[in-house]
Amino acid sequence: MNFKDKIRVISDFPSPGIRFKDITTLLNDGEAFRAAIDQFSQFAAERNADIIAGPESRGFVLAAPMAYALSKGFVPIRKPGKLPHETISVDYSLEYGKDSLEIHKDAVQPGQRVIIADDLLATGGTIGATIQLVESLGAQVVGVCFLVELSYLNGREKLNGYDVFSLVQY
Ligand code: PRP
Ligand code: MG
Repeated sequence: MNFKDKIRVISDFPSPGIRFKDITTLLNDGEAFRAAIDQFSQFAAERNADIIAGPESRGFVLAAPMAYALSKGFVPIRKPGKLPHETISVDYSLEYGKDSLEIHKDAVQPGQRVIIADDLLATGGTIGATIQLVESLGAQVVGVCFLVELSYLNGREKLNGYDVFSLVQY
């Protein structure tokens, strides 16, 4: 499967000079979507994952079908104020300003082996915050996977020591 061919590149979105990597075309293609989830699921199975986590919102689209395929649980990492039970939260920086992410305190257990999936590794802010949340609860991040890695933004530098898999690189 040539996954790069399935991703649509949109010039000047959301602002001039940005070449946006649109994964909706990959998700729209049933064979490509299944093949991507199969590869992610294999990556997770090989690392003996106990549970799969994904950051809102595009991470949900990938992490949930992986969890289903593996008969494992799914953990939503959410934007502030969405999770109803006790949470912990972490701030992370965006290109302009900052945002935060939250996890339910009882969503992962100490020692559990967690795989995190998201659509895109750009600056690494989102994955860094997600890892921090999972590890704060005593669980172990045994792998992280992405559909797309923007290598020129060096997000991988924030992931030293982690097992990182990406399907397509730019
Ligand atoms: C996008 C994308 C990744 C993140 C990557 O999410 O889905 O989660 O940015 O960028 P980073 O590596 O610089 O953190 P966004 O925050 O736009 O929200 P969404 O998933 O809800 O669209
Ligand atoms: Mg996202």
